[in-house]
Amino acid sequence: MSILDRFIHPLSSHVEAVGTESAARLSAIHASAFARAWSTLDFERLLGERGVVADGLFLEPRTQKWTPLLGFIRCSFSLLAHRMRRTRRAASAKTGSTFPPDALGRATKPVAFALSRIVLDEAEIITVAVAPEARGKGHARPLLAHHLDALSRRGVARVHLEVEEGNAPAIALYRRAGFRDVGRREGYYPKADGTKVAALTMALDL
Ligand SMILES: CC(C)(COP(=O)(O)OP(=O)(O)OC[C@H]1O[C@@H](n2cnc3c(N)ncnc32)[C@H](O)[C@@H]1OP(=O)(O)O)[C@@H](O)C(=O)NCCC(=O)NCCS
Repeated sequence: MSILDRFIHPLSSHVEAVGTESAARLSAIHASAFARAWSTLDFERLLGERGVVADGLFLEPRTQKWTPLLGFIRCSFSLLAHRMRRTRRAASAKTGSTFPPDALGRATKPVAFALSRIVLDEAEIITVAVAPEARGKGHARPLLAHHLDALSRRGVARVHLEVEEGNAPAIALYRRAGFRDVGRREGYYPKADGTKVAALTMALDL
């Protein structure tokens, strides 16, 4: 998204629980984030499991009224913006990353998700991923906060996760959410080049 486009069409986000209807979209986001991608069928099975909880983050244009200044800018650049949107739509149609709004203008596909498995009063975060075009914009933090809240409301008292050592954005995200390091697993993640990378294990008491 360009600076101009962001100015003219600022996005708001909301987080809500997602189920098997989102399996294909979650699989696409997962494939863009991890070397070992999980198929739509993998996600359908996971999401159908008892104790598995997933939340998706959706982006949509703000419905606020434009201030006169923004209105002026909007008019001035409308033609240019129209061209940019057309180009972006064509590009995203190729990559399958469009998020067409429904009749109420709400996004129909998440751009990020968090998925956990609950066992008794503990949960494991199985995966968190943001679509590449939406990364680095602070979306993961509200998504994770909402997800942890949803786990807490289901009676979870402690949350565990594993994260690749060196995955700076993910480690920063988890530490800011309050996770602390509890261990390290040497050679846990196999890489495409044949090497292996350690995993950090982290935990959070809710
Ligand atoms: C990890 C991931 C979910 C973070 O999502 P995001 O929306 O891009 O993250 P945010 O923009 O909310 O940033 C999260 C934190 O990482 C930091 N960060 C972002 N990019 C960074 C980078 N390249 N290096 C270091 N820190 C970085 C941000 O500053 C922020 O920390 P802060 O809150 O202390 O400022 C996303 O990068 C992703 O999907 N990665 C691929 C999948 C993955 O690795 N998942 C986690 C393992 S299960």
